[in-house]
Amino acid sequence: MPARAKRGGGAPLLYEEAGDLESIPARRPCAKSRVGIVKAGSIDSDQSPRLRLEPIGYVRAAAATKVQVARQPRAAQGVTARIELLPGRNFEHALEDLASWELVWVVFWFHRNPGWRPKVLPPRSTTGRKGVFATRSPHRPNPIGISVVRLERVDGLVLRIRDSDMLDGTPVLDLKPYVPYTDAHPAAGNGWLAEETTSGADAQPDDPVPAFTVRFEPLALAQAEWIQAHAGLPIGERIRATLALGPAPHPYRRIRRGADGMRLAVKEWRVRFTVLDRQVRVIQLDSGFRASQLAAGTGDKTLQVHRDFLAQWPRPPVT
Ligand SMILES: C[S@@+](CC[C@H](N)C(=O)[O-])C[C@H]1O[C@@H](n2cnc3c(N)ncnc32)[C@H](O)[C@@H]1O
Repeated sequence: MPARAKRGGGAPLLYEEAGDLESIPARRPCAKSRVGIVKAGSIDSDQSPRLRLEPIGYVRAAAATKVQVARQPRAAQGVTARIELLPGRNFEHALEDLASWELVWVVFWFHRNPGWRPKVLPPRSTTGRKGVFATRSPHRPNPIGISVVRLERVDGLVLRIRDSDMLDGTPVLDLKPYVPYTDAHPAAGNGWLAEETTSGADAQPDDPVPAFTVRFEPLALAQAEWIQAHAGLPIGERIRATLALGPAPHPYRRIRRGADGMRLAVKEWRVRFTVLDRQVRVIQLDSGFRASQLAAGTGDKTLQVHRDFLAQWPRPPVT
């Protein structure tokens, strides 16, 4: 049994069977072209029913990595994306009248998740791990996400949206209008998040907006430009996007507080930064490889870029 399936506890195969997009049997495309009842996702009626779903379309967005995406739509204000629905399925008809709604629920599949965990550490928790069902974490046994996004326009089978917290390529399972009279409960409690707010019992927990401002020191800027030119990694953009969402230490976001200050890891690079109020100052970049690792593997191209970097910006001698 794969290690990650074991972590899931009671029903170890559930993720493997239902969570792996590649393993879902493809249904025959709907042949009917007129509007009418079409075959929907089905349930196998054996002992352990499996639900069969098929994407109705995909998200197209600039964000290709998890750290580039906001944690919720309210923190992604202004981030544009498209949802492209699949042709040949009568979705033109299914979309009729949707444009009259300002906000739309997108039900989607966290397709870039390797597995699930019963307990997770949400970025906003200062009180430890929480049960995954008490969070909005992507690491779920059935990796289904729900986001309320702003609908700008519907162009044929393409929805132009704003405030997207979904990665490029995310499979979309369903769309529904956000209906304030039934969906909005502004006075509802905030669960464990209420403990995280410092601004009074009735206050809403602070959302991670507005973004932190991220400034690069001249040294860090020169190093980021060098890495982009020599390693083809737009590291400056990655640093900015990650730290703008919040520089608090978090293993998933690869931010930690070390003896010598705050560190962010981006691929094999390390970034030293400081935080004052809502301003992040990026001080210096470094290779994530130790000297002994760089001394070995002389034929390795990645290591060579790191050696060249350190020839330009040597590390201070260890005292
Ligand atoms: C905390 S989840 C919240 C998603 C949704 N609003 C919800 O509450 O179900 C948002 C994070 O999921 C990650 N994410 C977005 N799209 C993903 C995908 N297709 N696969 C895996 N992770 C994804 C990104 O790191 C993003 O910051």
